[in-house]
Amino acid sequence: MLSSRVHVSAHPLVSQKLTLLRDQATPSPLFRRTVSEISSLIAFEATSDLALTETVVVTPLAQARGAAMAERIGLVPILRAGLGMVDGISQMLPEAPVWHIGVFRDHETLRPVPYYNKLPARPRLDLCLVLDPMLATGGSAIAAIDMLKECAIPRIKYLGIIAAPEGVQALIEAHPDVDIYLGALDDHLTPAPQKSGDPPEGYIVPGLGDAGDRQFGTA
Ligand code: PRP
Ligand code: URA
Repeated sequence: MLSSRVHVSAHPLVSQKLTLLRDQATPSPLFRRTVSEISSLIAFEATSDLALTETVVVTPLAQARGAAMAERIGLVPILRAGLGMVDGISQMLPEAPVWHIGVFRDHETLRPVPYYNKLPARPRLDLCLVLDPMLATGGSAIAAIDMLKECAIPRIKYLGIIAAPEGVQALIEAHPDVDIYLGALDDHLTPAPQKSGDPPEGYIVPGLGDAGDRQFGTA
């Protein structure tokens, strides 16, 4: 059974946009646009419990009760593929600062290699949304969240588009306090290749291929 911290979207628009992303014939411009759109939808679900403070607003007719965000929220895309998730979410949270973290996955070992981190020692934030479309072994997400916890971020949520069960399990074990929001939970990871023509190890099946390459046209 899935942990109650794992939320897989059942929204019809997410399913329809995921289909476009999975399709190997989808070209980069449409892929990028769809990553942005689906990210907004996943963020919509991931922000449904944000705290509000009551305000008062004056309409042209009367005074009305209003609401303002009570939490300071930061967006933390994991370079490079997480970049494509920023725009769609920033449109809904325009005040949220964007802190970039660079982590790539070593192709041989599949271990995460952190290479960029400009987080201040104590960011003045209540909640960080970590953005990365693919949760495969979980190594990159765990490394990024380790960095955020080192600077004492009180609450962290991970937002991804597709995950493998192996990655979800690893992330829950490493960071059981982090909520995970996904567009889809897929079947498995590819094993080490046995013969030429086999796909490389550690790709999500059915997945969508390499999210960074497909967004940026670098395949
Ligand atoms: C991809 C993806 C994740 C990571 C997932 O990035 O965007 O960051 O792999 O794999 P993991 O869960 O096994 O760590 P990649 O390393 O390909 O770098 P890129 O975004 O720069 O293409
Ligand atoms: N990174 C990707 O971009 N795709 C995968 O399937 C796994 C890791």
